Amino acid sequence: MLNLGILISGRGSNMEAILKSIKRKKIPINPSIVISNKADAKGLKIAQKLGIKTEIIESRGFKGNRQDYDKKIITVLKKYKVTPNNGLVCLAGFMRILSPEFVKTYKNRIINIHPALLPAFPGLDAQKQAIDYGSKYSGCTVHFVDSGVDTGPIILQAIVKVKNNDTEDTLAKRILVKEHQTYPEAVRLFAEKKIKIHGKKTIIS
Ligand code: GRF
Repeated sequence: MLNLGILISGRGSNMEAILKSIKRKKIPINPSIVISNKADAKGLKIAQKLGIKTEIIESRGFKGNRQDYDKKIITVLKKYKVTPNNGLVCLAGFMRILSPEFVKTYKNRIINIHPALLPAFPGLDAQKQAIDYGSKYSGCTVHFVDSGVDTGPIILQAIVKVKNNDTEDTLAKRILVKEHQTYPEAVRLFAEKKIKIHGKKTIIS
């Protein structure tokens, strides 16, 4: 069975949705480790309550460059057997850009969720970007991580209608409901080896 590492920075609700899905035996993957770059990330307690091991690799005040920091993450992932051969790394609200070396080491084995329909509105404040633009629909995207920001091959998307009176908050809440369905589903597809990558596209069988 594959081993899963989840990287978080905060609330951890997507992490929770994935871990609960695994517990309900919906996903054939072993949840090995949750790593946070922040000691006060709320998600750490949630993971611990669910019986999952956690590690903190504080990024604030870290002496070294991005690659040095990511090397520490890789060391911890490997310690918990989340390897480039049998591992999957899920970014779940992990607020750091990965170094090219990290992406290369775990090529096609890192996935992320973004709260917009990529390629629209990448980067920060995606829900605000959608509202400010006047989009009628937004949603969420689960995608492989490549060396760009929110640019890797798309695995799954879910659509949410933007209402006239939506605020960033109300839209974010409705998108989050979809995120919690979409991310576990994408992890399941990966764990069951149902995703093939062809250039920019993924084919789901
Ligand atoms: C989610 O909206 C996700 O799409 C984005 O960051 C947020 C993380 O929320 N990448 P949570 O920590 O999973 O609750």
